[in-house]
Amino acid sequence: MDGSRDRPIGVFDSGVGGLTVVRELIERLPGEDIVYFGDTARVPYGTKSARTVMKFAREDLGFLKSRDVKLIVIACNTASSVALPRLADEEEIPVIGVLLPGARGAAAATHNRRIAVIGTTATINSGAYEKALSDISDRFEIMSHPCPLFVSLAEEGWVDDEVAFMIARRYLEPLTGFGADTLVLGCTHYPLLKGVISRVMGDGVVLVDSATETAADVEKTLASADLLSGRDSGGRIEVFLSDIPYRFREIGERFLGRPSESVEQVTGPGGEESEERCRGMTAGRAASSDR
Ligand code: DGL
Repeated sequence: MDGSRDRPIGVFDSGVGGLTVVRELIERLPGEDIVYFGDTARVPYGTKSARTVMKFAREDLGFLKSRDVKLIVIACNTASSVALPRLADEEEIPVIGVLLPGARGAAAATHNRRIAVIGTTATINSGAYEKALSDISDRFEIMSHPCPLFVSLAEEGWVDDEVAFMIARRYLEPLTGFGADTLVLGCTHYPLLKGVISRVMGDGVVLVDSATETAADVEKTLASADLLSGRDSGGRIEVFLSDIPYRFREIGERFLGRPSESVEQVTGPGGEESEERCRGMTAGRAASSDR
């Protein structure tokens, strides 16, 4: 087998939310090795300027390239919205974001051509989903709305109680009157809130989870570049974080859907300020547990 097919897939996100994409990749491509980088020292990206998000995304990508990955997935919707076209142009290996797969999924799902999009403030302000959908068809009517508190709710694990429902109702009410039959969950964290979002939007509204669509895109891209590993089980998952946050193991497992094999803290990107402390922690595995 060509050695390049054995290289891992690289995935990065602003934090641990992108593990929802890793979870889908494991389902679809169980034989692939995956290296995940979460920039937990600098999360959230969704409230930051486009310039800052671009800088961080370029550094995150640089870290993954140093691990010799064969393809990079920008699992963060904010970074995909702001930085993807430029970064993909700069790289020789394929770089896939979550935005286009999500837009394509919504285009395929809608019958009445009314599509609602939710995401972080930076994602919605970028207008990237509107552009991606309009590029597919100029007959779509699109309404988008930021839901910043959903990120905190997902991390706290308050995803299906009355608090989550009340917040979802407040954010989503402007969208319910729009009559969309399709809603794009344009943020890594939102798939965890599918239950309450669906309760507010109603059964008739299809929720498009870009993580699922992205995994399908990764498989297609690897297949057409003849880079699929050829294994159908036993892929290794390595998780690197720029900071080990409080309760990271519990939160990470919630997103990944199972314990990760190992989590390691790296000194950069994002970890420079606390280099001494990081060095101490990277000397060994910060945490590990069996699959
Ligand atoms: N990963 C981000 C996204 O998908 C959400 C968290 C953040 O704001 O950084 O947009």
